[in-house]
Amino acid sequence: MRVGILTSGGDCQALNATMRGVGKSLYGIYEDLEIYGFLDGYKGLIYDEYRKMERNDFSGILTQGGTILGTSRTPFKEIHEPDANGLDKVEAMKHNYRKLRLDCLVVLGGNGSLKTANLLSEEGLNVIGCPKTIDNDLWGTDMTFGFYSAVQVATNAIDCIHTTAASHGRVFIVEIMGHKVGLLTLYAGLAGGADIILLPEIPYDVDAVCRKIAERHRNGSRFSIVAIAEGAKSREEAKLSKKEFRKKLAEEKNTYPSVAYKLAKEIELRTGSEVRVTVPGHTQRGGQPVPYDRVFATRIGAEAAKLIKKGRFGMMAALKDNEIIAVPLSEIAGKLKMVDPESSIVKEAKMVGISFGE
Ligand code: F6P
Repeated sequence: MRVGILTSGGDCQALNATMRGVGKSLYGIYEDLEIYGFLDGYKGLIYDEYRKMERNDFSGILTQGGTILGTSRTPFKEIHEPDANGLDKVEAMKHNYRKLRLDCLVVLGGNGSLKTANLLSEEGLNVIGCPKTIDNDLWGTDMTFGFYSAVQVATNAIDCIHTTAASHGRVFIVEIMGHKVGLLTLYAGLAGGADIILLPEIPYDVDAVCRKIAERHRNGSRFSIVAIAEGAKSREEAKLSKKEFRKKLAEEKNTYPSVAYKLAKEIELRTGSEVRVTVPGHTQRGGQPVPYDRVFATRIGAEAAKLIKKGRFGMMAALKDNEIIAVPLSEIAGKLKMVDPESSIVKEAKMVGISFGE
């Protein structure tokens, strides 16, 4: 049995834990096993850069953040474009897979990476997907590995801000990762006790945000914490076309590095409050995976090995109602799981007084 494996897209905690799950399970199934790790994601598969992995490569990495194989972004929208030297990337990947006489390729990836995995599967390769991303925005699975570790880091950032915000009586805005989907902000905001949570799925009204801050002041709170997703939009911005919005962002880039800074200025102008911004940024993807992710990654890795054994290719290992299942890559590719503004978690957050800036 010859298996290729790669980690693609933005990294996250528990990539190594997942590869360990795949590797250890496969060694338990096959006596005659060779695993090839492609370096820096699809780039390694395109340019034939890989290393043969040994059994002990999969030991001692359960708690290690990052990825021992390296990763990179290979945008799906550019996958059919030849590279600078005219190389057809899809053909190159197929060629290198066949050259190594692989029986299967395991892809640990998020949305874009699994779209490419599905494409390779349609092109005739045996592919298994594992759901990676701190955003937890993959369709077809209740959970992605990396999510709860990132929630932990983002929550810690909000916790730390809480004490200093209370000391100074300031408004603090904590900007959390997630361009299109606000699940990470929603969970970290709830866990960190944010007063206002602003998500890409629920366009905000700056006046409503300011009203909430004023209400808290009236009720004796000296400070307010806003958790905002990096991709949150105001109501006015939500009305713009994609192109218009991109143009607006480009124009504002020199004044406001990101959405939190713009909102801070708007709140200061309207309320006269002192506002500070904190952006934990890529720390949210770093460090050790939390225990939940270690367990989940191990289960996902074992399922990937099981799918290989059964020859069930073109599938992604996934979580549904706390059971590990397999879903076809073709069903999930290109679809986003987003926060439903009518979901019970949003309603419960509102019940404890959290404003979504509506
Ligand atoms: O997809 C994970 C993610 O961390 C998003 O939350 C974030 O918007 C994006 O990646 C950042 O990408 P990069 O590391 O390429 O700047």
